Amino acid sequence: MGDVRRIHTLLQGFADQGLLLPRSISSLYDQLRDFIVYDEDGVQGVCALRISWDNLAEIRSLAVAGKMQGQGIGARLVRSCLDEADSLEISRVFVLTYQAGFFRKLDFVDIDKRELPHKIWSDCLHCPKFPDCDEESLIWISRKENNSRKKDDIFEKFDKSGIPPLLLER
Ligand SMILES: CC(C)(COP(=O)(O)OP(=O)(O)OC[C@H]1O[C@@H](n2cnc3c(N)ncnc32)[C@H](O)[C@@H]1OP(=O)(O)O)[C@@H](O)C(=O)NCCC(=O)NCCS
Repeated sequence: MGDVRRIHTLLQGFADQGLLLPRSISSLYDQLRDFIVYDEDGVQGVCALRISWDNLAEIRSLAVAGKMQGQGIGARLVRSCLDEADSLEISRVFVLTYQAGFFRKLDFVDIDKRELPHKIWSDCLHCPKFPDCDEESLIWISRKENNSRKKDDIFEKFDKSGIPPLLLER
């Protein structure tokens, strides 16, 4: 619990630069169990994994303190979230970001936002940029699922209506 203020300060600094969505302290308490932190003399990095839908989660609020960037901390935080998704039997994790190159290095692939279930857009209503979202969307698909399907198949299985789509078979 003692980390909440520092998490908020870290995220707010990047939100002020337009790199992240601002998060209220209240929403951090609501969703604190989604967060992991990198702690070295205090919180230096943070990342959240939010379950969105059947077999789908989102990476949110990823940030590494400026002076600590470029040391692999961001990658470690994201990989920990992907491991957690795996342990929850969630094989797809998406992100909306301005740092697409960073996520591509971690085996995320580009996806058309419109392919994601409509439910994920509920948070966007609170975004100052809504409805002119200029973030890129990418998705990570677990190796297990990737091996069992052809990539084209995977994208076809998103159901745009927002009905749990991801495990439907043709
Ligand atoms: C994006 C961010 C989390 C990356 O954290 P980091 O700890 O500096 O990244 P890492 O050191 O783990 O980088 C891992 C790899 O990604 C690369 N990388 C980092 N940022 C990158 C970017 N914006 N574009 C392309 N590649 C990037 C690194 O060079 C490194 O490559 P390597 O494995 O070949 O050496 C950090 O820059 C940050 O907090 N940015 C501000 C907030 C933000 O934009 N968050 C993303 C919201 S979705």
